[in-house]
Order: sequence, then structure tokens, then C-alpha cells
Amino acid sequence: MSGIEIEGLRPLNGDVRIQGSKNAVLPMMAAAVLHRGTTVLENVPRIQDVFCMTDILTSMGCRCRMDGHRLEIDARTVSRVAVPREYVASMRSSIVLLGALLGRTGEAATYYPGGCSIGSRPIDLHLYGLERLGAEIAGQEDGRIAARADKLTGGRIRFPYPSVGATENVLLAAAAARGTTVIEGAAREPEIVSLCRMLSGMGAKISGIGEETVTVEGVNEFHDSEYAAPGDRIVTGTYMSCVMAAGGRAFLRGTDAVQLRGVTRVLRRMGAEIEEAPSGIRVGMARRPGPVKVRTAPYPGFPTDLQSPMLSLLSVSDGCGQVLETVFEGRFATAVQLRRMGACIDIEGNKAEVRGIYPLRGACVTAPDLRGGAALAVAGLAAEGKTRIGGCAHILRGYEDICGDLKSLGARIRQLPEAEEAAGERADGRG
Ligand code: EPZ
Repeated sequence: MSGIEIEGLRPLNGDVRIQGSKNAVLPMMAAAVLHRGTTVLENVPRIQDVFCMTDILTSMGCRCRMDGHRLEIDARTVSRVAVPREYVASMRSSIVLLGALLGRTGEAATYYPGGCSIGSRPIDLHLYGLERLGAEIAGQEDGRIAARADKLTGGRIRFPYPSVGATENVLLAAAAARGTTVIEGAAREPEIVSLCRMLSGMGAKISGIGEETVTVEGVNEFHDSEYAAPGDRIVTGTYMSCVMAAGGRAFLRGTDAVQLRGVTRVLRRMGAEIEEAPSGIRVGMARRPGPVKVRTAPYPGFPTDLQSPMLSLLSVSDGCGQVLETVFEGRFATAVQLRRMGACIDIEGNKAEVRGIYPLRGACVTAPDLRGGAALAVAGLAAEGKTRIGGCAHILRGYEDICGDLKSLGARIRQLPEAEEAAGERADGRG
């Protein structure tokens, strides 16, 4: 899919299944490397990042078989402990393989992932955590990082900030280390809980799951296991935003409403009617969203990954709202694209002031990143005329079938063949 075209101002109604969680599955795939045997993951989303992680595992000697949403990883033969550079560039979350490989072989190599469009994203906390477990880590001039540990040994780690990736890396290494590891200041995201539960199912001994202090007792051996990934809470939040932008009523199936309480609290203040159900979440919207002030924060706060969809919602709200981004320093690239659709957004540092305008007007826009691309679809649903979104490779990294899902709810949305997308770009002067 190279582009998406949306004709807005049509309500969304119906029922849609939410895909499995990208950010839960990626570290779970890394966890499979710890075990000299077979791990089966269910409810795995068929998205680019998963395909990329599968390629990395295969390049290391794992045998991966994906059948629908079921992924079997046979990691009996891991013959390579280095993550090839090209994969690090396309998927920075491959960094979690550092902890998994150290746990498995005592050796690992990868590359500094570098900054990306949402911020500089250093990995100092990952390296600090692994060093506390006895790893010796050397950075090289070409950006290569080589880590080795003759004996990974449990230790006390105190994170000054609850980094999701650093917590995952340490959990993976600690599960196979000798002795007890205590992680203080751990991230508490649902994806961390999923990883801990999966590791426990493989034989790891973990207590304090989902809390700020997590204790891991390392084990020598893991065993074959199966684990189903939870529904993706960020895709859920994106689709809730779609319904709120377009109006209508939808049931989002296969998602855990409890994980979304920090989000639903805000969306209710904007006028959404939200009901939690054991099998999903129902969202209805009968008017234009009301303005709110939102501050992103680590879980259980409002997730930074839903900040861009929130910018789109505030852009069509009936007043003036504000977004304070506290997690990543540069995550407002979507604003530039939304302005092309008539949105009124002022950015100053990490603060965005948004004056709502309804409807927006359709335009040719470009997805600046994964969630920013999805946010443009939210905006397109509340725009008059046609919105064409280019650069959809970003969206494919995390959304399995955004066009099919929104179409099933009644949206007028279609995938653009490459030639049409290029024509749209030329007409828009972007070439
Ligand atoms: C995870 O990234 C997610 N990615 C991100 O989702 C998500 O936005 C983020 O957590 C926050 O919730 C995956 O799970 C694959 P962090 P991660 O380490 O682990 C700073 C998406 O769209 N930091 O919690 O990289 C960092 O710069 C993606 O699906 C350090 O300073 O996030 C940032 O400002 C985008 N040093 C903050 O912490 C470190 O060593 C949070 O980063 C590590 C992080």
C-alpha cells in the first residue's frame, strides 16, 4: 500500500476486531531466543515490524513459521549473535535482542539505533541496566555495540525514568542470569506485564509484575510454551479517535478496556460515550469533540502513542485545547500535515495549542511516522472532500489493515495504487 484516500464526513458504525499488540509481540519474539526450543505466539499482528523481527530471528538461525496470526519460533539453533545493521535502521526496537542474546549466549552485538523522527531516543538506560548484570559493553566508532558477559549475575537496578525498552532488555537478561535481580523504577506498561507473563510461562520466576519494583530470579533453563498477545491498546485508541472524529457508534472487539482507562477518562471529557465490556470496548459520539488539556505520561498516564490522534481530534473540537508532550521531545511532526488540512495548531517547545475548526478540508498529506500517519486518517474522517495520505509504509509498520477496518465501519476509504499516489503528490507540488 503506498497511499490512502479518504472521503470524510461519514459516520462510522459497526463492529471491528482489534489486532494483536505490536509493542507486546516484539519483545515476546525476542524472549523466544532465550529458550533452546519452541515458542508459539498467538494473535500476532501481520505488520511490517513483526515481519522485520522475523527476518532478524531467521538471520540468527531461528526457524520462524507464521500461519495466519500464529507464529512458531524454533530457537534451538542460534548461530549468530549480531543484529545486522540494516534491520536496526528499519526497526529500532530490535535493541531488545541485546538482553535476550546476552541471556542466551553471553554475547550480543547490534548498532546504536540513532535518533528518529519522534526524538533522539538514547539507549543509555538499556546499557546501564545490562552492565549492572555484569555485561561488558563496548561502543565502536562505526556505531557497533558489542556486549559480552562471561557470567550474567543478578543485581539491583534503579532506573531514573521508567523506560519501556530498557525495562524489557533487563527483564530478558535477568530471566537467564544467576541469582536475583531487582528492578526499581521499572516501566509499568501493559506490554511489560505481557512480557513478564510470557517469561513466567517459559519458566522464569518473576514477582511484582506490573509494579514499579520487579524481582526476577534467574533460571538455567526454559521450556516450550504458548502465549497469546493482547489486543493492541494503541490501535484501539486510534479507532476510538476515528469514531469520535466521524461520529457514530462502534464496538472494538478483542481489546482490554482496563488498559485504556487513562485514555477513556480523557475521551469521555471530550464527549465520547464509552462502555467497557469483557470482550472489548464500545464507543459512541453524537457531537463535535469538546476541547481538553492533555499531558502524555508513562503508563497509566495518557500514552504518547495516542498524542498524534489527539491532535487530530482537538483540531476539529469546538474550542481551544492543549497537548503537553512529556515523553518524546520531538513528536509534533503531524501538526505540519494537519495544518495543510486547515488545522490551527501552534507549537512551542513541548506544548501544542489547538483551536478547533470543523470540518477540516481534504488535502494531500504525508505520514510523518507511524502514529502520525494514523492520526491523518483520523483527521481525514472529519474533513470535507478527499484526503490523500502518502508515505503509508510508516502506517504498515503497526496497523495490519487500517483501510479494511475503517471500511467495515462504513468509512469511504481506499488504498491508492502507486501511480495514483504519485499523481496526487505532483498535483500538490511535492513531487
Ligand atoms: C516504547 O518505545 C514503544 N515502542 C513506543 O512506541 C512508545 O512510544 C514508548 O515505549 C513510550 O511508551 C515499543 O514498544 C517497540 P522508552 P521505547 O524507552 O521503549 C527516553 C510506537 O509508535 N530514554 O520508554 O523506545 C526516550 O528517549 C512506538 O509504537 C532515554 O533517555 O520508549 C524517551 O524520551 C513509538 N534513555 C523516553 O525515555 C534510554 O535508554 C521513553 O522511552 C531509553 C529511553
